[in-house]
Amino acid sequence: MKAYQIIGTEGLASLKQVTLPDPVPQLGEVLVRLRACCLNYRDLMNVLGIRGVTGPVPRVPCSDGAGEIIALGEGVTDWQIGQRVVIPFMPSWLDGGFTEQHASHALGGAVDGLLCEQACLPAASILPIPDHLSFEEAATLPCAAVTAWDSLFVRGDLKAGETVLILGTGGVSIFAIQFAKQVGARVLAITSSDAKAARLLELGADAVHNYRTDPAWDDWALAQTGGLGVDRVIEIGGPETLNRSIKATRFGGHISLIGVLTGTAGEVQTVGLLRKSIRLDGIYVGSRVMFAQMLAQITETQMRPIIDTHFEFDQAPAAFQRMESGQHFGKIVFRV
Ligand SMILES: NC(=O)c1ccc[n+]([C@@H]2O[C@H](COP(=O)([O-])OP(=O)(O)OC[C@H]3O[C@@H](n4cnc5c(N)ncnc54)[C@H](OP(=O)(O)O)[C@@H]3O)[C@@H](O)[C@H]2O)c1
Repeated sequence: MKAYQIIGTEGLASLKQVTLPDPVPQLGEVLVRLRACCLNYRDLMNVLGIRGVTGPVPRVPCSDGAGEIIALGEGVTDWQIGQRVVIPFMPSWLDGGFTEQHASHALGGAVDGLLCEQACLPAASILPIPDHLSFEEAATLPCAAVTAWDSLFVRGDLKAGETVLILGTGGVSIFAIQFAKQVGARVLAITSSDAKAARLLELGADAVHNYRTDPAWDDWALAQTGGLGVDRVIEIGGPETLNRSIKATRFGGHISLIGVLTGTAGEVQTVGLLRKSIRLDGIYVGSRVMFAQMLAQITETQMRPIIDTHFEFDQAPAAFQRMESGQHFGKIVFRV
C-alpha cells in the first residue's frame, strides 16, 4: 500500500511517500481501506517538530481517518465488509477515565497513524459513519470535533443562554461554535482576520473581535457580557492567551485548556483562577463513548463539518503547508 512516513527530523523534507506491505488483520481486528484523512495542528507539530515534538521514526503521521472495512480478523462478528467507519484518535480509550496507556496509543503520535491506504484497528474501537456524511466529512471528526464535544458537554455542561468565548478559526474552534449554537448558547469569537470574522458571523457567532488589530480581547469579552465575564472558554492558545482567558471568565466559570499554539509553558495568573473560583480543565480529545454520543447528535441535527480544502493523497506536503500558513478556516482533508 501507499503511505507517508516521517523518516527524520528535517521538517517537511522528512515526510516521504513510501510503499509498505499491506497490513493483515489479527484476532479481533478489522482492516480498513482509508478513503479520507484529515489534518490537525498536532500533525503539523509532529512533522515539523514544532515545540520539540518528536516520536519514533519512521512512522506514519496523522490521527484522523475514515474508510470502509475490507477484511475481518478472526473473531470479528459485529462488523461486515463494506461498512463505512470512522476511527477514534485513541483506539484503546473506549470509555471511563483517561490513562497514560491511552495517551501512548494515540494514532500518529508514538504509534503509526492513518496517512496511508490501509490500517488494522481493533473492531471494538471503530464507529459507523452517519449516512449523511461523506468519508471526507467523517474524517474531520476524531480529534477536533471530539475535543470540542468533550470540552463543552462532558467536562463542561454547556446550557442554552450561556456565553462561550472561542479563540481562532481552527478545527477545534469551529466545531465548538457549531455545537454551542446547536444548544442555544451565545458565542463570542476572536480571530486574526476580518475576512474570517465575516465567515464566523455567517456560521452563527453572535459577536466577533479581531485580536490582531486589538489585542485586548479580554476587555472586549468583558464588555460583551456587561462586565461579568463569559461562562466558558475554548482555550486553544496556551501560555500567551490563558491569562486573558482567565480575565475574560466570570466568577465560577470554566476554561477548557486545549491548545499549545503559543507555547507549552509560561506564567499563569494563578490568583485569578482561585479568586474567581474558575475551573480549569486540561482536555485531551475524548473516548469512543463520547465520540458515539457526538455522532448521535450530528445525525439528529444533520450537522456538516466545515472543510477548508480537499487535497489528493499525493499532495500531502501542500496540505501541511496550507495548515502552516494559518490561512485555513475549518478542516484540511485528503482523499485517499
Ligand atoms: N488537547 C486536545 O485534545 C487537542 C485536540 C485538538 C487540538 N489541540 C490543540 O489545539 C490547538 C488548535 O488545534 P487545531 O487543530 O484546531 O488548529 P488549527 O486548525 O491549525 O487552528 C489554528 C487557528 O488558531 C488561531 N490562533 C492561532 N494563534 C492564536 C492566538 N494567539 N490567539 C487566538 N487564536 C489563535 C488561528 O485562527 P485565526 O486565523 O482565526 O486567528 C489559527 O488559524 C493546537 O495547539 C492543537 O495542538 C488539542
